[in-house]
Amino acid sequence: MTRTRIAGIGMYVPQNVVSNDALASVMDTSDEWIQERTGIRERRYATRFEDTTTTMGVAAAKVAMERANVSPSDIDFVIFATLSPDYYFPGCGVLAQRLLGLKEIGALDIRNQCSGFIYALSVADQFIKTGMYKNILLMASETHSYGLDFSTRGRNVSVIFGDGAGAVVLQPSTDGRGILSTHLHSDGSEAEMLSMINPGFHAGKFVAAKKPKTPQQPFGGLFITKDLVENDDVYPYMDGQLVFKKAIVKLPEVIMEALNASNYRPSDIHLLIPHQANLRINQMVQHALRLRDDQVYNNIQKFGNTTAASIPIALCEAWENGRVQDHDLVCLAAFGSGFTWGSALLKW
Ligand SMILES: CC(C)(COP(=O)(O)OP(=O)(O)OC[C@H]1O[C@@H](n2cnc3c(N)ncnc32)[C@H](O)[C@@H]1OP(=O)(O)O)[C@@H](O)C(=O)NCCC(=O)NCCS
Repeated sequence: MTRTRIAGIGMYVPQNVVSNDALASVMDTSDEWIQERTGIRERRYATRFEDTTTTMGVAAAKVAMERANVSPSDIDFVIFATLSPDYYFPGCGVLAQRLLGLKEIGALDIRNQCSGFIYALSVADQFIKTGMYKNILLMASETHSYGLDFSTRGRNVSVIFGDGAGAVVLQPSTDGRGILSTHLHSDGSEAEMLSMINPGFHAGKFVAAKKPKTPQQPFGGLFITKDLVENDDVYPYMDGQLVFKKAIVKLPEVIMEALNASNYRPSDIHLLIPHQANLRINQMVQHALRLRDDQVYNNIQKFGNTTAASIPIALCEAWENGRVQDHDLVCLAAFGSGFTWGSALLKW
């Protein structure tokens, strides 16, 4: 049976370490509040005018490709997951294809926010298992720091997020190792509760209060308006408590779904790598599944929430630290904006 295995993994985080105290110097927050509520001690911010979501993804990809022992000419498909793309369009996939000097292969952009890596992995898995591609390069990268609201008004969101990238090279394997199953879910009924809807083409359709004041013109003028800029209505919005409550239900559910699909129990997991959104969420998931400390990997303390990049960054760091060994049962799980959530179970 052909499975999809991670043949190489890499990560890139920018050098700029930003402490909680540094944030407290620009907004009304504190190291104590941030650590107590989220576990985050520091995060990385991209080097301004130098790093972008694409360049960071490419930096991680180069490491992953070297470790997989593949060259740019071997790559036959590219997937790029992000919620903070360099351009509104085209997506980062083609920008990465250009920077890496890849052939005229397909480049797919995935925008499933915190679940982006799991969604992308699932898509790649289907292409590999059917035999369509042999070397898929998957990048997940985020540059949150360029666009957050660093005034006190935006503090519940801004203190959480960090920048960085992870990447994997995916190949077919026939020795039983690789992805056992992936499980994807969504529920758009509360889509706006964790969202950045502006600038956008929604014209206020779903949220009456967000209807743009139409300028005196017959066409256009509904995407970026002066109002949006003047009212600072161009930042992410999050109902943190709602997200928290959903996450601690859906994550254990989707992890159990993955385990049940292959007749495993939580005690069989060598390492669970949950999305790094909040240490308290992950501790509650660990408790719900009765997992030991050594079965769960967290690094949000150092990097904050890097959205699509958080799982590959954590997986890469865990592998580099020897926490993931050949044939280990590894479970990945994410929950985030959409809402979307998912899991993947793999034999490393
Ligand atoms: C964001 C989060 C840490 C906020 O913690 P919380 O306990 O829910 O806090 P609340 O939003 O209810 O706010 C509590 C108080 O802290 C204040 N506060 C919010 N952010 C703050 C900050 N950075 N510093 C200091 N105070 C802050 C609020 O203004 C509020 O004050 P008030 O009681 O005077 O009105 C938490 O809800 C969370 O992590 N949710 C999940 C987020 C998540 O996973 N997002 C990503 C999904 S991919």
